[in-house]
Order: sequence, then C-alpha cells, then structure tokens
Amino acid sequence: MADTFKAVRISDRVWWVGAVDWGIRDFHGYATKRGTTYNAYLVTGDKPVLIDTVKKPFYQEMMSRISSVLPEKKVSFIISNHSEMDHSGSLPEAIASLEPEMVFASRAGCQALKDHFPALDSITAIKSGEKLALGNSDFLFLETRMLHWPDSMVSYLAGDGVLFTQDAFGMHLATLSLMAAGHERALLRAEAARYYANILTPYSGLVADLLQKLPQLGLDIKIVAPDHGPIWQGKDEIGWITGLWQNWAALKPTRKTVIVYDSMWGSTASMAQVIADSLAGAGVEIFMAPLSSTHRSDVATELLEAGALLVGTPTINQEMFPTVADVLCYLKGLKRKGLIGQVFGSHGWGGEGVRRADEALTQMQVETVGMPVTARYVPGPEALSSCRELGAMIASALKERTAV
Ligand code: FEO
Repeated sequence: MADTFKAVRISDRVWWVGAVDWGIRDFHGYATKRGTTYNAYLVTGDKPVLIDTVKKPFYQEMMSRISSVLPEKKVSFIISNHSEMDHSGSLPEAIASLEPEMVFASRAGCQALKDHFPALDSITAIKSGEKLALGNSDFLFLETRMLHWPDSMVSYLAGDGVLFTQDAFGMHLATLSLMAAGHERALLRAEAARYYANILTPYSGLVADLLQKLPQLGLDIKIVAPDHGPIWQGKDEIGWITGLWQNWAALKPTRKTVIVYDSMWGSTASMAQVIADSLAGAGVEIFMAPLSSTHRSDVATELLEAGALLVGTPTINQEMFPTVADVLCYLKGLKRKGLIGQVFGSHGWGGEGVRRADEALTQMQVETVGMPVTARYVPGPEALSSCRELGAMIASALKERTAV
C-alpha cells in the first residue's frame, strides 16, 4: 500500500495525506467544475496526530499516503475539525485501523460525529481556546461555529505555525500541486470566490468576526492548511486569501448587475436582452444568466461581487418557471444581503410567475427599484421601452449606491 500513493510534506513535521477527487462535478448542489481535494494532515512526532480524514470512497488513498510516512500505520491521536462527511466519512475505519489513544472534536463535533456514526461515542471534547500538548506537538483549538457547520473548529500547531482551518480558506480545485504558489492567482481567485459565494455567504458576519479575532491571538501563522484545495504559505499568500475573504464578507455593492431569466417562447429572453442593453449603455457591468444554460452556482458566484439582481420569468401553470424557482430558492438560502433589483417577464393570462418572483425578492430583502415589468405574450414597443427604462433606473441607483 505504501507504494501506491505518497504523502506530501508541507512543513518540517506536517504531511498532506489527503485525496484528490478529480471527477466530482456536483457538491451538494454546487457545480464543482474543477473537482476537489479532501485534505487530511499527518503531524509527525513522538505521538503522531492525524487531522481530519477524507470522504469514505477515498479511505484507501489516505491510508496509503499515511503508510508512506508511518509504515506501521498507527497514530496516537486524531483531531476532527469538522464532521461533514467529506472529512469524517473515513473516520470510523481510520480509528479502527490507526488505533489512536484519543480522538478529539469540538463539543458540537462530538455530538455531530455520534449522530453520523453512533458507534463513535467516545470522542473527547475540546473547548475553544484550549491548548493541548499531544506528545511533543503543541496545539491550540478555536471553535469557528457555523463556518460552516456548528461543530467547525480550527487547530493551530505551534512551532511549524500551521493553522488547520477545515473548510475555511479552501476551494474546490482538484490538484496534486498542493501549494497555492503552484497556481495562477487568477485561477485561485476565481475558485475561491466560487467557494465563498456558494458556501460562506450566509455566514459573512461570522467570517468578519473570525478575521478580526485571529490576529489578536498572537499566533505565528506560517501556513494556512484548509481541507479543500491548495495550501497557503507565507505572509503574502495568507494575507491575500484572508484579504479576499474580508472583502467578500463585507458584501459591498458594486455596479455589476446579474440578470437571471428563463423563457418559454423567447419573450422573457427578449425583455432581458433589452434591459441588459440599457444597463450596458449606462456603463454597468452585466452578467446574463439564461437558466437554460447557466448553473445556479454560477449565478451565486457572479452575485458575490454584484450590486443588483434582476429576475425574469414566464408564468407556467400559475407559477414561476421551475428553473427560476430553483435558483431563487438557492439564492434565498445564501442570504446575499445589500442588493437592489426588480422582476420582469412575459405571461399569457394570469401573470403569477412575476408575482411569485417578486415575493421571493422580498423574502431575500432585495430593495426593489421601479416597478415589475410585464408583457402579455410577446412584448411590444411599450413593454420593451419599460425594460429600457428599468435598466436606466437600476444603473442610476447603482451609481448612487457606489458613489464615493
Ligand atoms: Fe468540506 Fe463542510 O465540508
């Protein structure tokens, strides 16, 4: 087994022993176009420590990497920073095989692990702020509740200065070039934004709190090691990714507008196109999201750095178009705050679709500008003129909101 997969050293005493999921394209509703990694870490010393595990189908890959460093395949401790199954799925088998003396998790983590795996009823809870000497490895633990589950915590290894951050500061990017320096910043930015937008947006206030709290702890953080994607090393890289997260957490409006729509016979699409034309003519950056060919997670990603959301839907059987309902359900859950917007669409008789979309924007606390624009069957000059006017009103409101 030791010759199959190798561990990758990331610091004096820490090895990456995770797995690469090259093929995953749907991560609970989020389109992971570049796959992902499940990062687990082995801290060597007189008492080896494993931090997190991997999704269950990748257990053998993790064990192979562990045995390339520890041929006897025994560790003294396991720390579970996060109980979601992409990190805990292999935990029961890992405990059975690696025979640790103790397994640690946050208090909520102990409960969550027991709920997932009832046999795991002897995990030891550690408190936020607790320090533990595990053999010659000195750890500090910090709960990061709701980043992004209630059980989430981060672990800091003194000496090597590695902060193991589970999902925080990660991204879904399948790679064996494990250090961030091995990738173009543009790619890292795009995938980090996609990950933040689709997972962290609802918890932006907690992200801001964590980023304020971390420097106050006085830790000498040399490496930030998340559970997905590349590892950040050195002040420049760590400052770069935490700076991006700080900006995203602030949810500052920009002049960009996302236009989400679907269409049955091209009428709502033509309304979207006229609104887009009007906005672009007023100097507003637009992202057109025809839902027949745009995934909901692309919409969420584009909305991360936008200021306005416009939603176009036909009416079908007295409802919104199903693709529009899907994306609005997803966005509502992500709780993107601070947007302005409006709804529009064509209908045959009742027109309930636009009304349902308007209700959804209200639930999302989107501040509406102007009035909904509707058209019966095929939009004529008057409806298209209203679309142009809506674009102009949105552009003007965005300029006002982003004026310095
Ligand atoms: Fe990567 Fe929340 O699990």
